[in-house]
Amino acid sequence: MKKLQLLGDITPAQFLRDYWHKKPLLIRQAIPGFKPLLKFDKLAELARLNHVESRLVTQRGGQWDMQHGPLAELPDRGEAGWTMLVQGANLYDERADELLRQFRFVPDARLDDLMISYASDGGGVGPHFDSYDVFLLQAQGKRRWRIGAQQDLSLVEGLPLKILANFEPEEEFVLEPGDMLYLPPHYAHDGVAEGECMTYSIGFRSPSFQELGEAFLQFMADSIDLPGRYADPGLQPAKNPAEIPREMLASVTEELNKVRWDEEDVTIFLGEYMSEPKHNVFFTGPAKPLVVGRFMEAAAKRGVKLSSKSLMLYRGKHVFINGESFAVGRADKAVLDALANERRLSGAQFEGATDDVLEALYTWYQDGWLELG
Ligand code: SIN
Ligand code: CO
Repeated sequence: MKKLQLLGDITPAQFLRDYWHKKPLLIRQAIPGFKPLLKFDKLAELARLNHVESRLVTQRGGQWDMQHGPLAELPDRGEAGWTMLVQGANLYDERADELLRQFRFVPDARLDDLMISYASDGGGVGPHFDSYDVFLLQAQGKRRWRIGAQQDLSLVEGLPLKILANFEPEEEFVLEPGDMLYLPPHYAHDGVAEGECMTYSIGFRSPSFQELGEAFLQFMADSIDLPGRYADPGLQPAKNPAEIPREMLASVTEELNKVRWDEEDVTIFLGEYMSEPKHNVFFTGPAKPLVVGRFMEAAAKRGVKLSSKSLMLYRGKHVFINGESFAVGRADKAVLDALANERRLSGAQFEGATDDVLEALYTWYQDGWLELG
């Protein structure tokens, strides 16, 4: 897939300045002639798998219903008002991965996944809002979007999915294949299929500070070092035995205040956390991996590329891949940064790597994190 224009006649810098997190943008023919990357059958096959996150939303007689995957059975395509949503399509299809990577003007640490939805005529997930930015790319058929900047985000109670109680659309567009709508977080929207349709959602991740804080404290638990043990050589007879002694409180407070962290700790935490694959992602190495010598020969000719499932980031001397971190020297850093940014290395780049990096690349190949180019 060649590099796409995507944002119409504005640059990524203009888009980020004027629209990102601020207001919607409709881009007609963001990808001219766009065709769905996965056929309906392939999508339904993914939705049947245990490790793929999927949902089926139906609206029958005005009643909303939602079922989580795996979806063994689907309604008939001729039946109106249902939709199937498959999360993480980029993990299972290389072209879907390439499409997601066209949005890398936003850093990888913010990119989430490509969700694909199929809807029968009249299908949709109802008026709602999302907590994340999203690009909604029409892949097949037509979808009518109604959107609004309302402040009232109260939801209908007692439903298995989020439906706005008082949806007040302000604008309306019918999207055709190749058209794309960007929506900032918390922007109310409702997309209804006009005939069968498929929509691709390019989603972003923005962890809550609470989630980050909890994970950071767990990370710190592994790295803190507080030697010694509480002691009270000057203990006085207890007047009120149930009362925690003031001296104990003071001593523990002093010790706990020795727990400190700096930007380096946060860097390592954030890199490991943001490169951790989702719980449902499993890597499978090659069925018959090449022995190390053959791998080196093949990679020097063909280069290597990261698996669609691999998450690789870096900051300064720290390199992160799939939840693991390494501190690397200058020579290793150049080649690993290139692998992280390009998600591939040419044969020549591969050959230029140090023995330490080659060894790591071979392990990643065996683990299915990396493939031959
Ligand atoms: C859909 O594709 O049906 C739902 C996408 C969304 O509204 O976020
Ligand atoms: Co939405």
